[in-house]
Amino acid sequence: MAFAGASSLIIVPFDHWEYQIMKGPAGKAILRSEYKPYPWVVKGLKLKFDIGEAETLVSSEIQLKRKPGMDGDSSIELDGQDMALKSVWVDGRELSEDDYSLTSDKLVISDIPSECLLEIRNIIRPQKNTALEGLYPSGQFLLTQCEAEGFRKITYFPDRPDVMTRYEVTIEADKDRYPVLLSNGNAIESGESDNGRHWVRWDDPFHKPSYLFALVAGDLSHIEDTFTTMSGRKVQLRVYVEEENIDRCDYAMESLIRAMKWDEERFGLEYDLDIYNIVATNDFNMGAMENKSLNIFNSRCVLASPDTATDNDFLVVEGVIGHEYFHNWTGNRVTCRDWFQLTLKEGLTVFRDQEFTSDMQSRAVKRIQDARDLRSRQFPEDAGPMSHPIRPDKYVEINNFYTMTVYQKGAAVIRMVHTLLGEDGFQKGMKLYFERHDHQAVTCDDFIAAMADATGTDLGHFSEWYSQSGTPVVQVRAEFNQAARTYTLHMQQHTPPTHGQPQKKALMIPVKTGLIDGNGNELDLSRHGHGHGEENYSAVLILDRDSKTFVFEDMDEEPVPSLLRGFSAPVKLEYDYSDADLALLMAHDNDTFVRWEAAQLLASNAILAQRERISRGEDPVLPETLKTAVRSMLTDLQSDPALLGEALRLPGEDYLAELMEEVDVDGIHQACEFIRKSLAGSLEQEFRACYGRMKDGAAYSNSPEAIGRRCLGNVCLAYLTTRDSAGDLAQRQLESSDNMTDTLAAISALVYSGSDNATAALADFEARWRDNRLVMDKWFSIQAARPSADTVDCLDELMEHPSFSYTNPNKVRAVVGIFAMANPTGFHAAHGRGYEFVADQVIALDKLNPQLAARMASAFNSWKRYDKERRALMAKQLERIQAGSSLSPDVSEIVNNALSE
Ligand code: PHE
Ligand code: ZN
Repeated sequence: MAFAGASSLIIVPFDHWEYQIMKGPAGKAILRSEYKPYPWVVKGLKLKFDIGEAETLVSSEIQLKRKPGMDGDSSIELDGQDMALKSVWVDGRELSEDDYSLTSDKLVISDIPSECLLEIRNIIRPQKNTALEGLYPSGQFLLTQCEAEGFRKITYFPDRPDVMTRYEVTIEADKDRYPVLLSNGNAIESGESDNGRHWVRWDDPFHKPSYLFALVAGDLSHIEDTFTTMSGRKVQLRVYVEEENIDRCDYAMESLIRAMKWDEERFGLEYDLDIYNIVATNDFNMGAMENKSLNIFNSRCVLASPDTATDNDFLVVEGVIGHEYFHNWTGNRVTCRDWFQLTLKEGLTVFRDQEFTSDMQSRAVKRIQDARDLRSRQFPEDAGPMSHPIRPDKYVEINNFYTMTVYQKGAAVIRMVHTLLGEDGFQKGMKLYFERHDHQAVTCDDFIAAMADATGTDLGHFSEWYSQSGTPVVQVRAEFNQAARTYTLHMQQHTPPTHGQPQKKALMIPVKTGLIDGNGNELDLSRHGHGHGEENYSAVLILDRDSKTFVFEDMDEEPVPSLLRGFSAPVKLEYDYSDADLALLMAHDNDTFVRWEAAQLLASNAILAQRERISRGEDPVLPETLKTAVRSMLTDLQSDPALLGEALRLPGEDYLAELMEEVDVDGIHQACEFIRKSLAGSLEQEFRACYGRMKDGAAYSNSPEAIGRRCLGNVCLAYLTTRDSAGDLAQRQLESSDNMTDTLAAISALVYSGSDNATAALADFEARWRDNRLVMDKWFSIQAARPSADTVDCLDELMEHPSFSYTNPNKVRAVVGIFAMANPTGFHAAHGRGYEFVADQVIALDKLNPQLAARMASAFNSWKRYDKERRALMAKQLERIQAGSSLSPDVSEIVNNALSE
């Protein structure tokens, strides 16, 4: 069977076959230790898609050759789900049903020659697919999502990343409805066929695994630009969107060009094809997908203009565009052998996108934001029932392992390699990695081996980070010996047991350290026995045993230690700083992370102390040291406003919860409110003056400086609006705002302070933006995040709003996700209706989109950390979900883990 473009569409009705989300074989765990190479080589693949109104016919020609040494077995096993098989041919002979066995997820053909052409035809129903995996509809167009295991919902194939081949793809569809037909690689041929249909043939010269396959068909508009690579290749760049969004894509295009240039300059990596396409969709389970030369993006990560996007949205667009582009080398050219190795591509690519953002924006701010994110979201994950090493040992549903741990902790592990080897060593390692493994599917061990071999470093012990889950605790004690003039840091580590991994080993932890004298001067450590005679203000102390001692010599006086500079390891650091130490670090440390951390520590100590007083029935008080520290930040005219904004922002309630043995939701919230309000009250003049300096009336700009001013100004606004006397400030900001950052900050301030103007502000906003999906997501989120026990009672109404849609993940996340994950006061309200609401949503969503349902279900993961009453309420909801009929493997894995912990 050849794929002549002119072949017409044949639809065979399958009356017995109704589209539904197949539940798959119930919950069998897959183990990393059971990896076996696939016995067949796929030498080539030709696919033809005949897209129809209700059904799509997929025809596939698979060129097979059995691997040498695998002669024992002449059968072949292919993955396939949710489709109807029409016919199977081997070397031109049609097989009968006796020649193969077909189950809900596999096609096994019993006897085929060691080298042959396998032809398969099957039918799928993309228009009915709500799981957003495989081929599915979004608005008026169709698109694919294959990572991790979506290709098996398109056709029968060995759907695993270590089977790589060259794809030739022909797409045929109605020309009016689907004028744009895209796939990976280069368009090599196209033509018209009967009945108003047309076709395009694509050839991707790079061998790739099925998870990188992509197809898009529909009526899309695009913007276009070009980039000339360092060796002179001219690349055509396009961003495709639905027509209504065409004037919000420029920032994405600019970001892409910056990313391409940056990867050449920093990593020496160049793009390898003549075209690069990005398609934005409103309906996407994740942020974006790196399919070879045809990235698909959640529109939230593409569309941005000052009137619709916040400063943070712009950062996300630039970061995600970079991330997917960087995957072309770290992920596509060198890919993963199996899904246990996911962090091989994700940890490394997140590290690369963090570095990109650091080089484009403010390195200091980026570091703080990433550290905050890791601590408030990954640390809890790693302490709960879904705890896993960055390279997991087992999974039931791989979609549940696209986690903060694999991505963010994975990036932190790569960052430690970078710290240990330095930029030069790291780049040597990258070079060797590509020399050895270009066009291969490899493991995390291969990556570490390249890093070690390129630099002659022993990373054997270091690689335990890939196997061990949990967050290490590093305890530091200092000792000054006046007579011997030595200053000694005693460091100890331990990692608490985690779900499924009770025994822990000592890891290799780089603790970047500096010392500061009483006048706030950094000591040159090379004069005190560390470093190599050059000026050296930081030393990377390697804690690689349970405990270790580091001695600094020739010390005149006892310094203050500046520990874990740059957040040099993903650990919890414990050192008994006095308030005076913290004030000194805040004022003088050259390391911006430690300066920020000192401020956060002062604040979290204060909040937790007041929480305790409240729980004892005592009145909370505002600690003088915190007040003094905040005053000095508000009157600091030297420092970067962005950093001051980050330091003044109180630690998140999720992070504070993480610091408590048993979480006291209401106590934490009350203590935070108290501290915020009393700081605003006792420093109102300083807050107003600082706010005034930041809001100097300058017109909108998106320079890092302007972003920093908005950040600090809006932090001040949030403090000030806790005071009735500052009530009109937010309203005035709202009225004069010329950008979404200031508008949203003002509306949030009105809503969260319970202002009389809140209702009108929300109504105006809705009236103005009702037709803009992304902006409406913000409108939903603000209301779902309102920290109040009765927020849950407004959610049903929100979900009846015409802009809400159950089948759109962005909408579900904006309401259910924000409520469950970012509103502890609402979700954990003692009446338990928050829990019930979220469980209802999980049950309903599981029928449509199991991946999304599982994400929402993970809100219950920390249930054991709460008080008895809340534990009981959450367990009841978990059991209710678990008892449901035909639960997806996605949700059942989450819920079973949570209940079995
Ligand atoms: N691989 C994508 C990324 O991180 C994420 C993704 C995973 C998207 C699975 C869709 C499905 O860049
Ligand atoms: Zn990625």
